[in-house]
Amino acid sequence: MSVEMKDSNVGAMRAAAAGASAAHARALKLDNVHAFYGKSHVLHGVTMEVRPGEIVSLLGRNGSGRSTTVKTIMGQVEGTGSIDWGGQALLGEKAYEIAHRGIGYVPENRDIFPKLTVHQNLMLGEKSGRRGKTPRWGFDDMYAMFPRLKERQHTEAGVLSGGEQQMLTLCRTLMGDPDLIMIDEPTEGLAPKIVELVAEYLKELKRRGVSVLLVEQKLAIALEISERCYVMGHGRIVFEGTPADLRANAYVRKEWLEV
Ligand SMILES: Nc1ncnc2c1ncn2[C@@H]1O[C@H](COP(=O)(O)OP(=O)(O)O)[C@@H](O)[C@H]1O
Ligand SMILES: [Mg+2]
Repeated sequence: MSVEMKDSNVGAMRAAAAGASAAHARALKLDNVHAFYGKSHVLHGVTMEVRPGEIVSLLGRNGSGRSTTVKTIMGQVEGTGSIDWGGQALLGEKAYEIAHRGIGYVPENRDIFPKLTVHQNLMLGEKSGRRGKTPRWGFDDMYAMFPRLKERQHTEAGVLSGGEQQMLTLCRTLMGDPDLIMIDEPTEGLAPKIVELVAEYLKELKRRGVSVLLVEQKLAIALEISERCYVMGHGRIVFEGTPADLRANAYVRKEWLEV
């Protein structure tokens, strides 16, 4: 795989990150959220939260309701209950309004514009002047983090490898300068080395003061980088705890995670 990270890049990012964090700290809280596709009732009272600056994993098998949870937060699926973002009620807001409130969403399908160049894809992610704060990131940061994207900035995004497209999708969302980023199965189909790289970048986001809600099926990355984990089964939260709690709980892993 051709996506590479140099230690110096992460160091440079860290230096540039100084002071970017606490001012916009907000918590995301779901309380008794139910969600529906037409008459099909998929989420059954989901209660969970992502505190400012946390990496939280939402784990579960395929079909357990993880993507639906994230789509409900983003206003893409009809829901009831309460979703609170730093005192703002999100349920009932339109999807584009939610995106402008500082929540970034990286959907599970790599959502690039294949006929546009890498650079044009990043431009589409930029929401200049959002909330009048100085953005944490710019093009140079993205290219410093992902030299491979810089090399290919004038290339059509459609010809990038799977790993590169995943990085581009992440970068495009970061260009909107979210305070919380929700990432749906970013490691799906990626080689182990690239999975490790994704883990490093997610930790770097946290260091920059961005909260992360990571939807995963892979236990290893979740246990490695999360502060807390939730496990879903049949549209309900069936476990909540630290990675250490989850490691110690063979029953939950066997019943709700292992295939
Ligand atoms: N667009 C849809 N219309 C109807 N049912 C759906 C739709 N998307 C997902 N579902 C159903 O909702 C349930 C949860 O799916 P999903 O949230 O995608 O799970 P996960 O992301 O954990 O794999 C599944 O039973 C799935 O079949
Ligand atoms: Mg899913």
